[in-house]
Amino acid sequence: MIIAANFKMNLTPRKIHEYLHVLEQKQEYSSYAHINIILFPNMASLMSDEVLRGCALSSLTLGAQNAYPAFNGAFTGEIGAEILEELNISTLMIGHSERREIFNETQEFCQKKFDFYKKLNFKILYCIGEPLHIRKNGQHELKNYLNMQLCNIDVSYNNLIIAYEPIWAIGSGISAEAHVIEETHQLIKEILQNNNASNIPLLYGGSVKTDNVREILMLDGVDGVLVGSASLSPYEFSAILQVAVELQKI
Ligand code: PGA
Repeated sequence: MIIAANFKMNLTPRKIHEYLHVLEQKQEYSSYAHINIILFPNMASLMSDEVLRGCALSSLTLGAQNAYPAFNGAFTGEIGAEILEELNISTLMIGHSERREIFNETQEFCQKKFDFYKKLNFKILYCIGEPLHIRKNGQHELKNYLNMQLCNIDVSYNNLIIAYEPIWAIGSGISAEAHVIEETHQLIKEILQNNNASNIPLLYGGSVKTDNVREILMLDGVDGVLVGSASLSPYEFSAILQVAVELQKI
């Protein structure tokens, strides 16, 4: 089971250091042993020795929310592979809807990033998800849209995780309904199977919180969750982890 936290442009390095302390106090990290926990903090926090040490001690994986598809070079404001390698970061999120929508990242650019970091054997958390008007247009259009977001992405890559995050559920406080998550995960798994990729973990994201995480994690075809807003509090995030621990025991 994979539980990932996307802090987005929130929490400072100092706050994340304190956050890790709270998480540690809430639960013995050894009880998380069978859960793959990935934190995606902002770049400044990835560079903080205290955060790096805190995560290493507790075997949490740290990932970058973004990176440019180059080793280094004249790309003002960007972070590249050389920097990530020096920080021992080998997990990267690609295709989050905020990057696609706010920063105008096209499918071609997502694909370029994917190909570049795949060559470096990064673990890639690749996000897909439709806006509301696409969903309203029915199953056929939804399938085409999700297919398009996976177009030219090597889904047989063995270091790949996919997160399905319907845009209309992100940050809204209301997750997609259970049957919608289940049906859409089924649809995505079919797309993956048609591309000879059957064992890719598929996470759900979009207003996951303590109240709904149990139901979501128990759904067919859900291999974990990607949590945004609710991951910003170490108390809430540790409650989410606690649910995952309990479900592992069943
Ligand atoms: P949310 O964000 O949990 O606040 O909806 C999820 C995400 O954007 O990854």
